[in-house]
Amino acid sequence: MLAFVSSPALAQSQPWLDTSKSPEERAKAAVAAMTIDEKLTLIFGFTDADDLAKQADDIVPAAVKAVVKANQVPGSSGFVPAIPRLKIPAQAQTDASLGVRVEGMQRTALPSSLATAASFDPTVPEAGGRMIASEARLTGFNTFLAGGANLAREPRSGRNFEYVGEDPWLAGKMAAGLINGIQSQHMVSTLKHFAVNDQESQRHSLDVTISPEAMHQSDLLAFEFAYEQSSPGSVMCSYNLINGRWGCENEYLLQKTLKQDWGYKGYVMADWGAVHSTADAANYGLDQFTGFPCCGDRKPWFAPKVFKAAIDKGEISMTRLDDMATRILWPLFSTGAFDDPAKAGPIDFRSNAAVAQKAAEDSLVLLKNDGNLLPLVGVKSVAMIGGHADKGVLAGGGSSAVMPVGGNPVPEADPKVWPDPVIYMPSSPMAALKTELPKAKVSYSSGNDIAAAVALAKSSDVAIVFVTQFMGEGMDSTLELKGDQDALVAAVAAANPKTIVVIESGGAILMPWKDSVPAILEAFYPGIRGGHAIARILSGKVNPSGHLPISFPASDAHLAHADIPGFDQPDGKAVHVTYDEGATIGYKWYDVKGFKPLFAFGHGLSYTTFAVSDTKATVDNGALSVGATLRNTGKVPGKGVVQIYVAPDDYKAAGWEAPKRLVAFHKDLVAPGSAAAAFAQKVDPRLLATYEVADNSWRVKAGTYHVLFGQASDDLPISVDITLPDMIWSAVHN
Ligand code: BGC
Repeated sequence: MLAFVSSPALAQSQPWLDTSKSPEERAKAAVAAMTIDEKLTLIFGFTDADDLAKQADDIVPAAVKAVVKANQVPGSSGFVPAIPRLKIPAQAQTDASLGVRVEGMQRTALPSSLATAASFDPTVPEAGGRMIASEARLTGFNTFLAGGANLAREPRSGRNFEYVGEDPWLAGKMAAGLINGIQSQHMVSTLKHFAVNDQESQRHSLDVTISPEAMHQSDLLAFEFAYEQSSPGSVMCSYNLINGRWGCENEYLLQKTLKQDWGYKGYVMADWGAVHSTADAANYGLDQFTGFPCCGDRKPWFAPKVFKAAIDKGEISMTRLDDMATRILWPLFSTGAFDDPAKAGPIDFRSNAAVAQKAAEDSLVLLKNDGNLLPLVGVKSVAMIGGHADKGVLAGGGSSAVMPVGGNPVPEADPKVWPDPVIYMPSSPMAALKTELPKAKVSYSSGNDIAAAVALAKSSDVAIVFVTQFMGEGMDSTLELKGDQDALVAAVAAANPKTIVVIESGGAILMPWKDSVPAILEAFYPGIRGGHAIARILSGKVNPSGHLPISFPASDAHLAHADIPGFDQPDGKAVHVTYDEGATIGYKWYDVKGFKPLFAFGHGLSYTTFAVSDTKATVDNGALSVGATLRNTGKVPGKGVVQIYVAPDDYKAAGWEAPKRLVAFHKDLVAPGSAAAAFAQKVDPRLLATYEVADNSWRVKAGTYHVLFGQASDDLPISVDITLPDMIWSAVHN
């Protein structure tokens, strides 16, 4: 990474060094000083230097390979060489939303993004973003491939754990929180994978059919909220085709929607292996051809001379190349990455682990707690069963998997093929529970022998069964737990009526044993201090406050799609999926169909109780504002979440995809007896509207709407009626 000292004279001859100029002016000035080869340097990104060395010199010049080899952080995800003559730094790119992933390095892993979304508190991912960005900078990176925002349309999708739930407003705010945290540390962050990359099976060849209306009211709305609330420096286009056009040359998504309508100033980078052409990609919106060589990339697309030839033939204009280069530079200036270069240095892993632990403590969701079995008070003996709970907690697989500080305590875990390695975080729930309950006898059984687990459960006051669902990039999963886990829970529950289940999962699972266990804690993938967070919640040191960012379906039969096209088949099949359900995702789908979920979107219990009062919903010139007061009606302090939904009197007449939509939420820490500061929020009008493709507008239909207040999508006891006027406005941002 280049560091430089700017002087007035230098800033005059190289005006992009002048920090008084705007990021746009600086980016344009730098590009104006570049040769065509320097511009081309900016638009090609490379992955592993050793793989790159195997490519022919007439594709990637030997000099470029040498620069990558000499400057890349070995084992990292991507690298774009510097332009030393102009003091333009290299772009050192690291995965991903949960922390720094570099082969051979140990770093701090946040809980999964889905877990963090369950905090219903954007300051949680923001704090996480600051922490992982500080580690990234101290590892020598200035660009983070972090900020997954695809909606959990398909509950079995293998990367839901990297994303932020099923609702556009929640997902947008949570993804923005992470990106804001990262970019506050003078790093570029990435919003990905744009767009409708909602299943992993056959992701390199899947063609998704979805109407523009549905897209704008669902997946694109989440991205739009995240984008405008965080201004990500880069957006990563996705592998799949959307309505017949590859994600990375999708004119509708990249050119029209992102750049023209939303006014995006940063750059579009390709997912690794998602480039399919030279001129079409450049002309339809791709700015940086990243991740070469990877995943079946065709070499010529990454050859500077091929790009030059396309310019010579008039297939790509110089104006477009200048635009690509300007867009790539803009975030380096706007985030401060240019003026404050990253530098490798020592990392405070202890403080960073505390950030990850707090994120988990704010996020784990208590799903069930009959008879207030939890927290565990005065228990003399605890049987901990399964899930390697003696050693650690599970993480998801793929490019977001961080090798934790302290290493993987379960290196033998399967599968041993991509998205391997299966990583457990070295935070043993058992060891942590022993610390929290020093007087209790805490014993462990692996669960491999059900009879032994049952015997241990029978001889203990309480039994805690840990179940796991491994999910990872490039594969989808089933909602059923693998192996004998359901049988194990059923057998233990039959042996000990005080059985608690702790779930470590990528997303939703089915729970055939739900009614036979009194307590269930959803821990998702809780990160590097996940075991500590679980133990502190089980013991009552921490009052749980997470709420589900996804619905848990009661049955496979309730899913919008019976099968995932191409599921469990070798990669490369040309498969197609039609998203007939459109924007009717998650709780919206269950509402329309009248299916009762196992656990509803927004559900989450506490060791105290809350009441929502002083509800307000006012309309001023068509703009809806909502507010409420949260009161702690129980005995211990806790964090409660007010959730506000809007339901048209007649949702079909209003043109909505479903009976209700989440429009606002607010989390607060409240002491018993006192009230949290009353809050008020303006509702984004798009949450009340339909997208009209004919004139690219948003439209609200006049009528009566019910504003619903409560603490979960299935617990909304208060309704305030409002009248909205007819409204229509352009989808183009000002
Ligand atoms: C993933 C991206 C990741 C990239 C670089 C791809 O396989 O889809 O999310 O950023 O690899 O590792």
